[in-house]
Amino acid sequence: MASSLQCIDCAQQYPIQRVIYTCDACGGLLDVRHDFGDSSSEISPALFDGRLGAFIAPYSSGVWRFKELVYPGVDDSDIVSRMEGNTNLYELPRVASYAGMDTLFLKHEGENPTGSFKDRGMTTGVTQARILGMERVACASTGNTSASMASYAARAGMQGIIFLQNQQIALGKLAQGIAFGATCLQINADFDRNMELVRLVSEKLGIYLLNSINPFRLEGQKSIMFEALQQLRWSVPDWIVVPGGNLGNSSAFGKGLLEMLQVGLIDRLPRLAIIQAEGANPLYRHFRDGFRQFEAVNAETIATAIKIGNPVNLQKAIRALEWTSGVVEQVSDQQIMDAKAIIDGVGIGCEPASACSVAGAKRLVERGIIKRGDTVLGVLTGHVLKDPEATIGYHADQLPGLSPKHRNAMLQVEDDLDAIVRVLGDRAP
Ligand code: F0G
Repeated sequence: MASSLQCIDCAQQYPIQRVIYTCDACGGLLDVRHDFGDSSSEISPALFDGRLGAFIAPYSSGVWRFKELVYPGVDDSDIVSRMEGNTNLYELPRVASYAGMDTLFLKHEGENPTGSFKDRGMTTGVTQARILGMERVACASTGNTSASMASYAARAGMQGIIFLQNQQIALGKLAQGIAFGATCLQINADFDRNMELVRLVSEKLGIYLLNSINPFRLEGQKSIMFEALQQLRWSVPDWIVVPGGNLGNSSAFGKGLLEMLQVGLIDRLPRLAIIQAEGANPLYRHFRDGFRQFEAVNAETIATAIKIGNPVNLQKAIRALEWTSGVVEQVSDQQIMDAKAIIDGVGIGCEPASACSVAGAKRLVERGIIKRGDTVLGVLTGHVLKDPEATIGYHADQLPGLSPKHRNAMLQVEDDLDAIVRVLGDRAP
């Protein structure tokens, strides 16, 4: 089945064998376009349901289960997979009531092999790198992309090269990149500058770029929507709420949702709500200004995963917002960390950036944009263990400028039986 690359601005097409990330003719972003023509009759809930619980690759993966929509022409022997996806969809009434709504589902992408949604894009990105015969792959990262790329590159026997901002990466993520054997460059530059640098270096040295500007990444990430809808038995929620940083996920969601509509898996589109941190809110500002003049920002937020001021997928995210009558909201670091404490406190947990989904949904309910009775699906993008410093800092009340509303303070107790019994007595449920 034919797939090609196509510019989202001028529609120029390129063969998928080309190592190219933006349009030669106009500089626009590229989509991977699949011709579903031949197989659209076989694409059905029954096809994908029939693969649930598969033990054998590639259909044991929650990405490759949807192969016909992700990369139809791929040879199974080229696929580099860690059985990513297959993440849980939780219905969480306590979190819903915190956010002021009746029905909230949270899809936990932190349950992927390296602890974030990036694995879904990395299986397709590294598979494409293998098809192209690449030996080296690179990315700039706030942490999760690098952890994921390092893992998949190691599985594929490739050298992974990661560009990181000095001191600004959560410990869990840094540890993964090092452990998986990637070449880690700590550079005194923020994510946005590192993104420019990795593009230049990759071009100069013929290294395959695996940031989400690479359209094959987004093909894998679309499967978050496929799997979520499958879990909801193809019943479309009113809202999908997702954090926005480099805007790869929101872009992928827009494309995946539209494709599901095109092949008849769903009968309408949900509305997309993209949530940014107040200190890293270039899309929010642009949205508020009616998309007139885009301005990058100098990003600062405790949610280091989304500390991004100049997102590379901007145009695709705007397109996704247009397709889905979407909205953009912003939330403060205080709101992010309080929402995180609520998600953590019900025993599910997530990293700070992920909590934007709940904090943002809450704001949108308060502003009357999401209605209490709407069905809302939020995406938790990363695992609670990714950023232990932020979690402990919150509960120890040691985060500058923040005061924890949902604190679980650690208790210092003497080595003394009576003292311990007294403390627990004071805290009996
Ligand atoms: N949540 C988490 C946990 C992330 O790691 C990221 C992005 C996002 C949300 C935002 O997703 O970029 O698709 O809008 N992390 C990238 C990284 C930038 O390098 O790990 P996005």
